[in-house]
Amino acid sequence: MNSPFPYETYAENESFYGREVEKEKILSFANTSTNLVIYSKRRLGKSSLVREVFRENKEYLFIYCDMFDITSKEDFASNLLHSLASSIKGDIKVVLKRLSKLFKRVSLVYSADPQTGKLSLKPDLKALSFQEMMDEFFNTVFELSKKQKIVIALDEFQQISTLKDAKIDAILRKYIQENYNISYIFLGSKRHMLNRLFEYGAPLFEEATSMQLESIKQEDINNYVSKHLNISDEIVEYIYDLTDGETKFIQHIFHILFVYHKRKEITISLVDEAILEIIHAKSSGYKILFDTFSQFQKKAFKALSKYSQNIHSKDVLDEYNISKGSMQSALKQLYQREIIDKEDDVWFIPDRTLELWGKTLLN
Ligand SMILES: Nc1ncnc2c1ncn2[C@@H]1O[C@H](COP(=O)(O)OP(=O)(O)O)[C@@H](O)[C@H]1O
Ligand SMILES: [Mg+2]
Repeated sequence: MNSPFPYETYAENESFYGREVEKEKILSFANTSTNLVIYSKRRLGKSSLVREVFRENKEYLFIYCDMFDITSKEDFASNLLHSLASSIKGDIKVVLKRLSKLFKRVSLVYSADPQTGKLSLKPDLKALSFQEMMDEFFNTVFELSKKQKIVIALDEFQQISTLKDAKIDAILRKYIQENYNISYIFLGSKRHMLNRLFEYGAPLFEEATSMQLESIKQEDINNYVSKHLNISDEIVEYIYDLTDGETKFIQHIFHILFVYHKRKEITISLVDEAILEIIHAKSSGYKILFDTFSQFQKKAFKALSKYSQNIHSKDVLDEYNISKGSMQSALKQLYQREIIDKEDDVWFIPDRTLELWGKTLLN
């Protein structure tokens, strides 16, 4: 039986819960063809949310592109065209006909999923330059937008700022301003990189409204989980606090409880066991990461996992035998490596499992 608690794949359909307010908000932007930036730290549910909204609302043509692993402007453009090809659903022969009519330069090839054997259509882009791919994508989308409202979701959008060979945001701005039947949703999990793309003076400044995604409401979690587990609201609250409301972590805990203790009454000690299992499974990866830290970075990381806000107090600095200056610069380095983050001048470890693992380290 499938687990009702996905934690590694996108939640969809029955396994997707809560987020009613956010769904409405996203739809209102799509409906008026206005643009949205959705930020949250990783694993809170951004990608699942936008995908679910448009799985439920098929009147929009939804083009979802994940920019997570782009390393060149050509990757960016090719990603757009691949996403466009897979956004058109239906019988493969009909889709082929429709796409072949739409595309001017791109031809399509059949491709079989190595695992399922399922056939899909992939654009053949070998001979095309970046500019040709961009033009092909936007010309096609503009053509489609005459008949249907379109939503283009660019996930992990901040990655465009890692490209040195093109200013994608400046290029996009022109296309965005050219057409009125399209809504762009920019998603991202690296706040500073993302903010920089929309701040005053940047090409996309005032091109989109920002929305920060928070944790799923506890009440919505209670309602859903109680259908599948014998668990009280108090225990859910315990999980919510421990995980800091991180959706993926919450789902992982529920998944383990579901696999082992579906029929039992869930207690705090069963929850603690599940959390230990999760941390244990991740610890070898975390150790490898930790070994890449300098001595000062190790101290700063341990102190932050254990004492969060109070790391600059004399007691903590003494305990770790580190000066205030060395602590500051180690924290900055960890921040540049995106291990830790900062909000309102307070440092924190955004990955809650990593933080809990850090607490288990000895001095
Ligand atoms: N509304 C939801 N209901 C159930 N599970 C969810 C929901 N949102 C996210 N999840 C689960 O949490 C995990 C992380 O979600 P994801 O959408 O990948 O987050 P993000 O894009 O913010 O990193 C996913 O595996 C997904 O199954
Ligand atoms: Mg995501």
